[in-house]
Amino acid sequence: MQFRVSIIGFGRMGRCYLRTFQQSPHYRVTHIFDPSPDCRELAARQAPEACIDTDETAALVSADIDVVCLCALADVRKRQIEQAVAAGKHVITEKPIADTVERERELVALAEEAASKGLFLTVNMYLLNSWYHHEMRRIVDSGELGELAIMRICHMTPGLAPGEGHEAEGPSFHDCGMHYVGLARFLAQSEYNTWHAQALRMWSWKDPWWLQAHGTMQNGIVFDITQGFVYGQMSKDQTHNSYVELIGTQGFCHMTHDFKTAVIDLRGVNVTERIERPHGGKNIDVIVEQMAQSISSGQRHPDMPRFSDSAIASEMAWRMLDDARQHEMPAIGTLDELEAIRERRRNLKDGYGLLPRNNKNV
Ligand SMILES: NC(=O)c1ccc[n+]([C@@H]2O[C@H](COP(=O)([O-])OP(=O)(O)OC[C@H]3O[C@@H](n4cnc5c(N)ncnc54)[C@H](O)[C@@H]3O)[C@@H](O)[C@H]2O)c1
Repeated sequence: MQFRVSIIGFGRMGRCYLRTFQQSPHYRVTHIFDPSPDCRELAARQAPEACIDTDETAALVSADIDVVCLCALADVRKRQIEQAVAAGKHVITEKPIADTVERERELVALAEEAASKGLFLTVNMYLLNSWYHHEMRRIVDSGELGELAIMRICHMTPGLAPGEGHEAEGPSFHDCGMHYVGLARFLAQSEYNTWHAQALRMWSWKDPWWLQAHGTMQNGIVFDITQGFVYGQMSKDQTHNSYVELIGTQGFCHMTHDFKTAVIDLRGVNVTERIERPHGGKNIDVIVEQMAQSISSGQRHPDMPRFSDSAIASEMAWRMLDDARQHEMPAIGTLDELEAIRERRRNLKDGYGLLPRNNKNV
């Protein structure tokens, strides 16, 4: 069975979805919409089989659409989700599901209502779909670590610089960090209880671009999360630092990756093991497969991320940012340094979190 899909927003993520849908036997892309003529021109070249709409509504509600895939930014998302659901479409959306906590809560309620009408709504909280985090949960459940006590999570890259894009989605700890806030909740299988956050206004930008939060989950597990797009932006050869460490009363496991390969090192009470597999990127193939299975069977795939997973992670990331603003938040560096970073990133062809700029040259 093939599902007809419409892609709304043909920037970086929209193009990733197109490639994945084109490689899947379960989908046929029937519509693409983006307000930018350059993006539409590119879409016409990359998806000659699809109708390239100039009208947003047509791409959300047309009869030849089963699934709408939302890849614009959060400021237009709520309206698009509501229109798609009202027209009886299943929805795969990028995170966050909206641009304010109130709107996200309304959409969580809408998703529950839509489920009762047989519609499936999901959001690409991709870390919840990665093989290595599921493997780490399995390790915890196996008892190899004793009792899980401490979670240490770090993700620092020379990624999206302040003012470059995604403005509707907040500082880096919200735009990117909400993934890690959602991940800690998944790994602990518990909600947040207490937190304290320290942030830094790197390059004297108005918002923090590095933040570290620590605190407790309701089940007593403690966490620290460090996120920043501040890691060697001007270094000659760029790299990143990304890891997740679960420390139990008796053993620990540690995961790191280079975006190509992910490696888990397990020091369990019975097992010492190194598990190494391809990283899996944004796991878009996983979420589109979960959606196809859900629609085919009429049963929601149990691992398919829920709107509430995104809404809670987003709200907690905002709250941690709010907490950081209550404390001393130093500013280090200058806006001139930031401009030099942006200039460098404008000319980078291969780098971290680059936004597509000249769509004609893609
Ligand atoms: N899950 C993840 O790991 C992950 C990674 C990167 C980005 N994202 C999210 O994906 C979304 C898109 O990010 P991106 O990096 O592709 O951004 P982008 O800026 O590359 O693309 C956004 C596109 O949306 C288009 N657009 C603007 N208004 C629109 C509208 N009303 N309808 C349709 N399209 C519209 C723009 O013209 C642009 O082409 C963001 O919400 C971002 O947070 C998620």
